[in-house]
Amino acid sequence: MIVANTLMTVTVGIVVVLLIVALLVFTGVMLDRRAKTPVPANLKPFVEDDVLETTRLERMLQAAVVTVLFLGVLMAVIFALEPTRQADAYEELNEKAVARGAIVYGPAEEIIDGEPHAIAGAFACQSCHGPAGEGGAAAYTITTETGEQQQVGWTAPALNDVLLRYSEDEVRTIITYGRQGTPMPAWGEAGGGAMSKQQIEDTIAFLESIQLTEEEAKAQNAEVGLVAGSYTNGELSDDAEYDGAALFDKFCARCHTIGFSYNQPEAPGSGGFGPSLRGGASLEQFPKIEDQITFVTDGSEWQVAYGVRGQGTGRMPGFGLMLLPEQIEAIVRYERSLTGGFEGTIPADDTRADEPQSDVTPAEEQPQETPNVEE
Ligand code: HEC
Ligand code: HEC
Repeated sequence: MIVANTLMTVTVGIVVVLLIVALLVFTGVMLDRRAKTPVPANLKPFVEDDVLETTRLERMLQAAVVTVLFLGVLMAVIFALEPTRQADAYEELNEKAVARGAIVYGPAEEIIDGEPHAIAGAFACQSCHGPAGEGGAAAYTITTETGEQQQVGWTAPALNDVLLRYSEDEVRTIITYGRQGTPMPAWGEAGGGAMSKQQIEDTIAFLESIQLTEEEAKAQNAEVGLVAGSYTNGELSDDAEYDGAALFDKFCARCHTIGFSYNQPEAPGSGGFGPSLRGGASLEQFPKIEDQITFVTDGSEWQVAYGVRGQGTGRMPGFGLMLLPEQIEAIVRYERSLTGGFEGTIPADDTRADEPQSDVTPAEEQPQETPNVEE
């Protein structure tokens, strides 16, 4: 910023000096003209040939060399300062985008003199996702199996870590098209909403500005599911143990268990937005446990195949930047133990409550029998 300002001042200074010189020359010429009896230009005597070809010519050439040197130095200075100037310009534009995004994200109304006034350009993401993106809830009407309308409270996820689990492109797609069958509407014009592309970019800039760092997110989540050992100063103790089921409920169930988001959960891993993980589905999709761990760590990508027959859409988040590897492994082991039927209703043989987490080694984890699939 300071460097760019100096450059600006120098440039303005040069222009002012040039203008003054031009003005002086001009007045000089005018005064000169008035002083003498006018002589036609073509009759004015000029310098002698030998002066013209020696001193005068040399002086002109010297002036040319000096000018070229000056321009050369000026170019070098501009070249050297350009990256800083660009970075400063980017920062300034980004700050403005964040400020505009904060309006999009913020409340829809403000109270002036006791009267509510609508705020132009506000889409009130905060009413569901929390003022600081910490997560919240939305009122929503679902249609039950018997066709009745029912009011429910639907948990809205935190957004202050959304860019740790999704790429910027994926977030752009979610904001533009929303998530069908949930309270998250399509906001972008392309999805039938009222938000311009500019507003979506501004919102993403704002979301970027409120993101937790990877370390903050991991520290915040490290206690979830911790049943033995401790996590202090970024270090997990050697005796630490995680409960995969608790972690699954906190981070995965909203997409992988029908009804979880509105407090009417069906069988764990029964699907929903994401596929069902029951009936040994994980074992079939990922015969090797490491491949499933990698998938949960990185998430899916649009049109990139995964596992044995998976086709990524970019909708499965990656958890490697917000959960510890030990947590991901515990969740994956839990998912691989979900052997009940694929269906949503909790079958009699549901293993969730009483079966200990499997601790078989990866080599033994090949499916030994056909998964127990119910029609
Ligand atoms: C009416 C409530 C509501 C409003 C308003 C709302 N959202 Fe959402 N949003 C939700 C819910 C609920 C979900 C989770 C849906 C689900 O269960 O899959 C969600 C999901 C998301 C996700 C995906 C996060 C994830 O990890 O799955 C993003 C990103 C998002 N919203 C951004 C926004 C932005 C940006 C705005 C404002 C322009 C906004 N939302 C406004 C309710 C809302
Ligand atoms: C925002 C919703 C969402 C959340 C949260 C989520 N998933 Fe997913 N998951 C998906 C979707 C959607 C797919 C399907 C792949 C795709 O569309 O790219 C998927 C696929 C999967 C698969 C592959 C299933 C198969 O048979 O193809 C596994 C395993 C999985 N998720 C595990 C997890 C775990 C573990 C967590 C929590 C740490 C989690 N998911 C959280 C949406 C989600």
